[in-house]
Amino acid sequence: MCGITGYIGSREAAPILIEGLRKLEYRGYDSSGIALLRGNTMSVHKKKGRVSVLADEIQNHPFHATTGISHTRWATHGGVTDANAHPHVSSDGDFAMVHNGIIENYEYIRNFLLGQGYTFSSQTDSEALVNLISYHYNKRTGENTPNRFLEAVRKALLHVEGTYGIAVISRLAPGEIIAARKGSPLLIGVGKNEMLISSDVLGFAGRANNVIYLDDGQVASITPDNCDIITIGNKQIECEIKEIDWALENADLGNYSHYMEKEIYEQPKALEDAIRGRISDDNSTAVLSGLNMSPNELRQIDRILFCACGTAWHACLVAEYLIEKYARIPVEVEYASEFRYRSAPLDKNTLVFVISQSGETIDTLEALRESKRKGFRTLAITNSVGSTISRESDGGLYQYAGKEVGVASTKAFTSQVIICLLIALYMGRMRDLSFPDGKEIVAAIKSVPQIASKVLELAPMIKETAKKYSKYDDFLFLGRLSEFPVALEGALKLKEISYIHAEGYPAAEMKHGPIALVCPECPTVIFANSEDILPKLVSNAQEIKARKGPLIAVTDSPKAFEGIADDIIELPKVHDSIKPIIATIPVQLLAYYVAIERGCDVDKPRNLAKAVTVE
Ligand code: AGP
Repeated sequence: MCGITGYIGSREAAPILIEGLRKLEYRGYDSSGIALLRGNTMSVHKKKGRVSVLADEIQNHPFHATTGISHTRWATHGGVTDANAHPHVSSDGDFAMVHNGIIENYEYIRNFLLGQGYTFSSQTDSEALVNLISYHYNKRTGENTPNRFLEAVRKALLHVEGTYGIAVISRLAPGEIIAARKGSPLLIGVGKNEMLISSDVLGFAGRANNVIYLDDGQVASITPDNCDIITIGNKQIECEIKEIDWALENADLGNYSHYMEKEIYEQPKALEDAIRGRISDDNSTAVLSGLNMSPNELRQIDRILFCACGTAWHACLVAEYLIEKYARIPVEVEYASEFRYRSAPLDKNTLVFVISQSGETIDTLEALRESKRKGFRTLAITNSVGSTISRESDGGLYQYAGKEVGVASTKAFTSQVIICLLIALYMGRMRDLSFPDGKEIVAAIKSVPQIASKVLELAPMIKETAKKYSKYDDFLFLGRLSEFPVALEGALKLKEISYIHAEGYPAAEMKHGPIALVCPECPTVIFANSEDILPKLVSNAQEIKARKGPLIAVTDSPKAFEGIADDIIELPKVHDSIKPIIATIPVQLLAYYVAIERGCDVDKPRNLAKAVTVE
């Protein structure tokens, strides 16, 4: 949510910053801006619209500088206007700042600063902070304060409530950039006699191979060849430089039209990478050393709580079905944002899992912190190596799905589900799951990448189906058991990228209300891959047909839907444990092609951003 880039070195800063912004545009894209510093002269440009609009503006107003900061915005406070775009400049013109996060007490700060003679030209919370930095800098006039710029930022942050990732430059202190974070990711890329700043490692692609992850409550003074870090409480911190694993961060679009399309097609590989090295054929179980828990400790677990948001929350719901079925451990699933603020009673032998593709979602991060604070062992499933969630959890499993850029999550979901299946297998085999049952699940898990490839071959047929259905504005998605979360995920995909109103329900729940929506203008997608309850699902389909609702069946029993469904997407018959993964792929494709038909911007859907780092 919002992309930040910064550069200090000996090269022309503007092209490097714009290049970084383009890579980060998936984090927010309603407006963007840049502040460049040459000696004591600062040049600032901000524009509503995509980064390309800013790039044109910069081209028309060239300004040579080797230091600068820039930002691509996802609006929180204040509408989408040039004035509200970042960087924000203090009213004395001395400081420019880019900010990701929310300053919760900005009104209080603003009122205080108005009394001190500062003026404001935007409706943002961020402008209060840059003026507060100026105020603290000027308070020290006459004092011979070493690191006066760093100190001004640190002092200002002591008064801030809320979250921030910031980068600040000043024409009064030309040789450095100050960066700080609390709740919003910020990374420093270490190059040769140059440093970069980014809210995502992707911003460094092709520019730096080493990174310093700023932690919450840290402030850094960055010069071309040095980075000094202190805490907000003024304690010196040792810089830890880590190497970036670019194999995991590749974000080239290749021959695909959109990242979402690319990522849908990457699923066989992502699934393969999620299970690599994590299966023991000899013992018909999983090998999950990343959990950092001994078999004995894991056997003590009486209950598991899963917390996440959005698509990752749907993966948690699938985990509930899988773990309860195969490991016989009670599982509860909470929206991370709810868990944090309610007083959920947790038994002492509860294990907490958080799932987050980005590893930066603030609601999930805060749920993790809350459960750790309460003393629970908290593990994470995340796709982002080095992310805050991965660093703060007690252990966990990386997805290794490769960078996911498309705002609509696809490969991350199926890879999260297969990891949850590995957990179900592992914990099941420690309890009552027999060797032969474990062996069946192992075989099923291993078959997933190949079956996923086969299902992707349905794309041309699904594309045609999408053409037929793209005109509708309301959809129902129905599924039962582990395909109920798949119904939720199918509905979410459709609404995110094509702005079609879509609802997911357990199929049998339809009779208790949603059936009122069924009519010729509201198609239903029904998932029916469970033999045990097939007759029930067929009855649900009949009920829809009787009310003239258009119907798409996603099923491995196509015969059962002949004469009832208008369109059938036929899936192969697979082991029960992997059905939710296989059933998800066709609806990802359906959502993608419907959005294309409707002319929507698939990778940059309106109002959304990839990593949601504000509450
Ligand atoms: C999925 O398509 C969404 N864009 C969104 O729901 C996402 O899954 C959610 O914000 C959680 O993100 P995370 O996995 O990075 O924590």
